[in-house]
Formats: sequence, structure tokens, C-alpha cells
Amino acid sequence: MRILLWLMVGAVALAQRAPLKQEDVAAGRQLYMSSCAGCHGLSGEGGRGPNLMTGRAVSRSTDDVLFQALKFGLAGTDMPPTNLPDEKLWQIMAYVRGLSAPAYEIPVEGDEKAGAAVYFGKGGCTKCHAIAGKGGVFGSDLTSIGHQRPLNLIREAVLDPGRRIAPGYQRATLHLKSGKTLEGVLRDYTTYNYTLQDGTGELHFVKAVDVADQRILPGSPMPGNYRETLTAAERRDLIKFLSRQSARGEQ
Ligand code: HEC
Ligand code: HEC
Repeated sequence: MRILLWLMVGAVALAQRAPLKQEDVAAGRQLYMSSCAGCHGLSGEGGRGPNLMTGRAVSRSTDDVLFQALKFGLAGTDMPPTNLPDEKLWQIMAYVRGLSAPAYEIPVEGDEKAGAAVYFGKGGCTKCHAIAGKGGVFGSDLTSIGHQRPLNLIREAVLDPGRRIAPGYQRATLHLKSGKTLEGVLRDYTTYNYTLQDGTGELHFVKAVDVADQRILPGSPMPGNYRETLTAAERRDLIKFLSRQSARGEQ
């Protein structure tokens, strides 16, 4: 309906947003790379300009405010005006919003059903992760991951898990004074106690006075080779599937 009206008016330059599609986000990404990444970072992590993934400015701004900022720049700062047609600015905005918006709220390419098949089958994700109470407890619960994280962070978590490790999942070994060695992730630790979860999911509560030596190990306990073991299409579909996981159940 809205798109029909928009086509009838025929004025692409209207500062009025047509429903955004996956193609717009992809086009916006290209434009972002050439016009914005130099200051805001290749994945929006910031640099000369602020971080666009974690900054609240984007998620708090209305479309109009954001559009004006992109078009005219921010006076008195390094943020320059852009001389691109409005249509392209809307595409950039779609991409920029997606950097911090929950993945569930933005269009994502891929086939959700095929992604579910990868998740429950070849990917072996259920060994460690639960969705709606089904699956392992070693890794984080993914029931609502599409609402909790933006798309880029979901993609990074799956394809490059060592890059950012969720608190409570640091790998460690504890050598006990008794001679025993425990290996797993440090779910919690204080001056007096360690809570270590081993690969079977069992929790070990250890007093600090019983520990002879502790080693914090680099990397995530999650396998880091999905780029090699899954095809590009499987990875895309899997990420689509994850982006649609929402405990709120709006579909
Ligand atoms: C020459 C460097 C530069 C370029 C190029 C640039 N920006 Fe910025 N941008 C900045 C700076 C610096 C700020 C912070 C302004 C301030 O102090 O409030 C900013 C602010 C922003 C903000 C507000 C964010 C916040 O947290 O306040 C958004 C959104 C933004 N830029 C998006 C873009 C987009 C999209 C592009 C590409 C079309 C772009 N910028 C190009 C430097 C740049
Ligand atoms: C051997 C256990 C294991 C397997 C198998 C595994 N994961 Fe993980 N995963 C973890 C652990 C532990 C974490 C938390 C540590 C971290 O952040 O790296 C995690 C983190 C994540 C996160 C980030 C969660 C968040 O809250 O940000 C996502 C998304 C994820 N895994 C998806 C998957 C998918 C999809 C698969 C299957 C392709 C998979 N995992 C397979 C153990 C596993």
C-alpha cells in the first residue's frame, strides 16, 4: 500500500521511507563502505566518528532526525554533509539502523527453514545451546537471540566466536592442591570461590584455598571453524534462523 503510493507519486526524492527490503540494506552497506566507514569503522565500531553499533544516538533518533544528520551533517563537528540522492541516504540509514537494532527488527537475507535444519543438524548447535527449553545448557540460551543482539554481533558470535567472549564463558583450568585438574569455563569467580562448568555441563564449586594454580585460556569454548565446515549458503541461512528467534513470538 505504502509502496504503491510511493510509486504513484513517483518522487523518489521524497523524504518518505518506503518499506525497506533486504536489497536496500545491501545497497546501503555498499554506500556506507565508501562514504562512512573511513570515519565510523568497517563494521561501525567507530574511529574518527563514534561507534554506531553500541551508541544510543542511532536507536534513539527518529528517522527524520537521522536523515537530516546524514544529509546535512552535524554542524560544528567532523560529521560532513553528504551529496547523495535522498533515495540512497535512506538505504544508508537502513544499514546504519541495522548495526544497532535487534536483528529481529530488520530484513535479513536467507532461508529460515533451511537455517533451522543446519542448526538442529549439521551445525550441532543443540549440543551446547537451548532454544525454548530444548538443547544443551553449556552455551548461552538462544531462545530470544534475535531480540537481544544486532545482526552483526550474531554473525560474529557464530563465525568468529573468539573475538568477544560472553561474561561467564572464559575458558580455564584449575589445578587443585589435591592433584586433580578441572577444565571448563569459569562461570563465576570471587576471591574465595570458583564456579567452573566442565564440558558435560556439570558445575564444580571450588574454594580458592584449594587451588594450587589457575590458568585462563584464550579463545571461546565454542567451535571456531564454522566458516570452513558450513557452506556460504548454510551460514547465511543459519544466521537468518537465529535472527528470527524471539521469545515474544511475533512472526
Ligand atoms: C570525516 C569523518 C566522518 C564521515 C565521513 C562520516 N561521519 Fe558520521 N560522524 C562523525 C563525527 C565526528 C560524529 C560525531 C559528531 C558529534 O560530535 O556529535 C559523527 C556522528 C554521526 C552520527 C551520530 C552518532 C552519534 O552517536 O552521535 C551518525 C548516525 C553518523 N555520524 C553516521 C554517518 C554516516 C551514515 C556516514 C556516511 C554517510 C557518516 N556518518 C560519515 C564523522 C564522520
Ligand atoms: C561446544 C559447545 C558449543 C557449540 C557446539 C556451539 N556453541 Fe555457540 N556458544 C558456546 C558458548 C560457551 C558460548 C558463549 C561464549 C562466547 O561468547 O563465545 C557461545 C556463544 C554463542 C552465541 C552468542 C550468544 C550471545 O548471547 O551473544 C551464539 C549466537 C552462538 N553461540 C550460536 C551457535 C550456533 C549457531 C552454533 C551451531 C552452528 C553453536 N553456537 C555451537 C558454545 C557452543
